[in-house]
Amino acid sequence: MADFPARAVPAHVAIIMDGNGRWAAARGLPRAAGHREGAKAVRRTIEAAIAQGVRYLTLFAFSSENWQRPADEVADLTFLMKHYLRSELDELHARGVKLKVIGERERFGPALTGELEAAELKTAANTRLTLVMALSYGGRADIVQAARRAMQAGLKPEELTERNFAGFLSTEGIPDPDLMIRTSGEERISNFLLWQLAYAEILFTPVLWPDFTAESLAAALADYATRERRFGARPA
Ligand code: FPP
Repeated sequence: MADFPARAVPAHVAIIMDGNGRWAAARGLPRAAGHREGAKAVRRTIEAAIAQGVRYLTLFAFSSENWQRPADEVADLTFLMKHYLRSELDELHARGVKLKVIGERERFGPALTGELEAAELKTAANTRLTLVMALSYGGRADIVQAARRAMQAGLKPEELTERNFAGFLSTEGIPDPDLMIRTSGEERISNFLLWQLAYAEILFTPVLWPDFTAESLAAALADYATRERRFGARPA
């Protein structure tokens, strides 16, 4: 599947998985059916990312704002995440996937929190793909908790730098995303990785998340490979 020179493959792809509800509505199905199909797309995308040589994949599975959805939809999503974790963990581990959860996981209750922590521990030594699951995640909250941690660490104002501040974020040790994809035609960042996306290439695709396939990822990577990244500098 090495369609592009290795240097053109983004090391870190981050995805806002949007459009499950519209996918279901278009078929006269309940929203939960869209989320279930979305979970299948998660599985496909992880496999495709591994095949393409992506090293870090961050998926926005639940935002801090998603708590405002009706209780039954929150329960459906929580159930789906629990079910997904239980049914997929062994295979993810066998494939060399390291799971890392960012966000306020404890809001999902002690049972899921414990399972997520056990999954992180089990996969901690894997190196093929780091799968970052953003759960009850908000970019602003991430920055605020980083500021708190920096203060708790006793850093003086003049000692704070962009580099050491990044080490207090939930993504400590993970390179910033090279490519951010949002599905479903919506063109917003929606409080995703606000600090970390500073120089990411951004791709908005009309594909609804449940329809996202290995080919969709390949098309996104092909588009990325044509972009000229300058990081604010002038072209050579
Ligand atoms: C956005 O669609 C999607 C979500 C809020 C949740 C994403 C969840 C999954 C992909 C499935 C479960 C996740 C895992 C990790 C197994 P939307 O409901 O906002 O769609 P809409 O904008 O069309 O209503």
